[in-house]
Amino acid sequence: MRIQALLLTAALGLSGCFGASEPVNQGVVDLQRTMKAMGKEWKAINGSDDPAVIATHLANLHQLSSDASRAMVRKGAQPDYEAAMWEFLVMVEGIQATIAAGDADNLPAQIKALDDLRKTHHNAFKP
Ligand code: HEM
Repeated sequence: MRIQALLLTAALGLSGCFGASEPVNQGVVDLQRTMKAMGKEWKAINGSDDPAVIATHLANLHQLSSDASRAMVRKGAQPDYEAAMWEFLVMVEGIQATIAAGDADNLPAQIKALDDLRKTHHNAFKP
């Protein structure tokens, strides 16, 4: 009985070590759901002028856009879509660098540029 309890504890411990480390981003991406979540982050970014708050939501937006970049879009549009998402991610990273450098003066212009890019790509890819 004691041995069984020990084995069970060991098994649970091991499953905790290995089972929990499965990447959360694997599998099929639901683009509509991911975009909806991006919309929430985008709202939070535009509703704040605190660089620390913006940085938090930019990090979430970056993760979600990275997930979205693996989603399937219209037949034939996938390479252009992935390139567009890549361009978007690079611009997000540029804004993150601006915040890290403490250069808040540039933030509004950069966020506006990101919004323009969002609109451009929505025009190109949204059904
Ligand atoms: C700040 C950035 C972005 C935000 C906040 C955003 C937000 C959204 C929202 C709210 C939707 C509608 C989801 C629904 O049907 O309820 C949507 C759809 C979509 N967006 Fe974005 N988006 C962003 C960037 C992008 C970029 C960069 C691309 C492409 C490179 C893109 C491609 C699409 C596509 C293809 C759809 C249609 C998804 C579907 O209905 O299956 N989005 N987006």
